[in-house]
Order: sequence, then C-alpha cells, then structure tokens
Amino acid sequence: MDYFEYRAGRLFAENVAVADIVRQVGSPVFIYSARTLREHYDKIAHAFAALDPLICYSVKSCSNVEILRLLAGLGAGFDVVSGGELFRVLKAGGQADRSFYAGVGKTDEEIRYALSEGLFMFNVESEAEFENIDRLAGELGKKPRCALRVNPDVDPKTHRHTATGKRESKFGVDLRRAEEFFARYGHAKAAKLVGVHLHIGSPVYTPAPYVEAITKTLELINRLRAAGYKIDTLDIGGGFAAWYEAGQTVMMDDYAEAIIPLVKDQKLKIVLEPGRYVSCNAGVLVGQVQYVKTGGDRTFVILDTGMHHLIRPPLYDAFHFVWPVAPGDDLSPVDRVKEPTLKGLQKCDVVGPICESSDFLAKDRPLPPVARGDLLAIFSAGAYGMAMASNYNSQPRPAEVLVDHDSFRVIRTRETYEDLMRGEG
Ligand code: LLP
Repeated sequence: MDYFEYRAGRLFAENVAVADIVRQVGSPVFIYSARTLREHYDKIAHAFAALDPLICYSVKSCSNVEILRLLAGLGAGFDVVSGGELFRVLKAGGQADRSFYAGVGKTDEEIRYALSEGLFMFNVESEAEFENIDRLAGELGKKPRCALRVNPDVDPKTHRHTATGKRESKFGVDLRRAEEFFARYGHAKAAKLVGVHLHIGSPVYTPAPYVEAITKTLELINRLRAAGYKIDTLDIGGGFAAWYEAGQTVMMDDYAEAIIPLVKDQKLKIVLEPGRYVSCNAGVLVGQVQYVKTGGDRTFVILDTGMHHLIRPPLYDAFHFVWPVAPGDDLSPVDRVKEPTLKGLQKCDVVGPICESSDFLAKDRPLPPVARGDLLAIFSAGAYGMAMASNYNSQPRPAEVLVDHDSFRVIRTRETYEDLMRGEG
C-alpha cells in the first residue's frame, strides 16, 4: 500500500522518522515517499503490460515538478489539463509527444502552446472546441491528433462531485452525438479525429463501471470504423482507486483482468490516465496540535492545517485516516479504518484554524489522547492535497518533502508572508 509505517511507536516515511523531518522543516508539511510513487506506477505498468499502454500520469492529482521528474524518469507520459500543467511537465523533462491535453475549457493561448510543443493528442470535449483547435492548427500549419471525449452514461458509484461519465455531466458528448461529431469533423482539414476518450469519474472502487463504459465505447468505435473513420487510440481515463481505508479497494490486477480482454485485440493504442493511484498513498500531510478544546459533547483537536491544505473531507465527505506521529507502541494503529478497536481512544473532531464550520479533516474519530504540540499525520493525502491547497485566510501553503530510502529533501519550500502578497499593491 505505502511506505509509511509505525516502528516502535513512531511513524516513519520509508527509513526516515517523520518527527525528524518536522523538526528540520517545520509544520505543516506534505511528505511523499519516492518508493511508493515508483511502486504504484510500476504496478499499473505491470498489470496492463499485455496492452503496452501509454500511461499518462494525471498531473492534476499532485503536480510538484520533482514528482513529475521522478515519474518521467520511469517512462510516464502525462495527462495535462492546462497550459500551466504542460509547462510543469516540460520543466520536469516530460515528453510532449507522450502527453495528452484534456479539459473542457482550453483557451486559444493554451491550444497554441500545446500545438507548438507537439502533444501526442488533444482530448476534445465539444464541437466548438474542435472547430477552434482545427482553426488554430490550420493557422500554425499543424495537424494535431484528436480524441473525442464521449460520455457513456455510466454510473461510477462514487461521490456525485467526482462522477463525470453520467448523462448530466459537463464532460464529453453522448454516444449518439459522437457519430454526428465524426460525420461532421471526421475529415477536417487540420485536426485529425483518430481517437476516443472516456473518463467516468474517480475514485471508481470496482472494475464493473469500466467494463460497461468500455463495452459501450467499443460498440461506437466499431460503428465509426464501419463508416470509414480511422480510429487508432482509445483513452480509458483514470479513476483507479487508492487506499483510503483498509479493505475498501480492489487491486490494480483486478481492473486489468477485467479491462484487458475487452480491448486487447481491437487494434487500438490504449491510454491510461491514473492520478491518485500513483500519488495518493505516496503522501501524508503532517500538522501540529495547537489546542485541544471541549465544547458541547465534543472534543476538538485544533491543528495548524485544515481544509485549506486538504479540502477533500468537507468537499466530498472523504475519509482520511488521522493518527498521531508518535503514539507509542501500545497505540500504534493496526489498520487504517474509521473505528480502530484499540483501548484508551477518545472520539474527537480534527479541525483546522480556518474561519469556516466546514474546516474539518475528521469527525467523530477515535484517537489516542493528544496534547498541544503533538504531531498528527493525515494519510493518503498525496493526491488532491497540495494540488488543491489554497491561501484562504492568508495562510501560507505547507512545505513539500520527498523521502527516498534513508534521506529526504525539500521539494517545495514553505510559503512566506511575502509570497502571499506577491504581485499585490
Ligand atoms: N483523467 C481525467 C480526464 C480526469 O478528469 C481525472 C480526474 C483523471 C484522469 C485522474 O483521476 P484519478 O486517477 O486521479 O482519480 N479532486 C477530486 C478528484 C477530481 C478528479 C478530477 N479528474 C478528489 O480529490 O477526489
């Protein structure tokens, strides 16, 4: 699952004590494990090897340039959704021709940038966007490859805010409209429509929604091919679940076993866009207890981090396991679950300093006794943690640290008050 573990009652990131990192770097801090990143990437590559897929890491999940550099070194391509993400990928030494450009609202400036860098493909979300890419490509004398994002109307059985492949979502076009789309643009002058893209949502906890979505999409591809269109690429998106809670997640091999037979002999280049599967378990957020406060029937553990650094709990009712960094041997967690059965725990709300009732990281959670100055780790925070962090309440964003075996280094310094005001006044 990952390389964050308790040894003799203290949390280690690989072979480095988390408390030692905080002593040197301060709190709050995101700590990533290089070994976990490598292993999760390798698990995907291994599970899907029979397809020789293009694995495009979804930059939005965790976009620190050093993490992108590490993944580029493993051979990853990249799924980018903005000019800013493309810039990061190129800075990290990522290959443009192994990268996709997705997203519903690409601006002219971003499209020109992506055209000039020669991306593997554009994922196109609407008629108006295709016409715009075709026009801009024509002006620049480019012939970009494009995949149409389809919306197969499948329920991924995940939080409503992260379901993207249902009829009512803003993403892609429905399957019937996809045929009209090819009829209209399949022989466009500059942009070449040669692929189909889908991403049904995330996290998707079973293979079944992928099977349903891919089956429907292959039927579409067969109809398009019969009508004379050349389709050489199928991008099946991301959404492969990470381990937030013990026992909840299927293995990468299970997804692969269900998906490979469907697409193996279809003469299609298969693209995968995993984000959280690679980055989620590779990161923890560590914060320090500022105060413990009781009120009503509650005990509040108030940290120096909160929704501004990890917005997933209030935004999606997401579960993140929270535990002290040095609980001692007796109170080291056995499993990362909502209701640990250890003795001597007390139910707490773990909250942050932000002036919002929605500023919580965990509610009603049994925790070992904690006191001012203790450190708490929020697990499975590598994906959509720092990437969605904000400066709300003029709070500087945390430092980021990458651990590799016995050593660590800061890969993003903590923001200062000066950083907060850059460009103002
Ligand atoms: N491909 C596309 C087109 C996507 O929109 C996304 C995520 C991914 C791939 C990667 O999904 P992943 O493998 O990371 O699940 N902030 C939310 C998730 C929103 C995901 C947006 N798109 C969260 O914290 O759960």
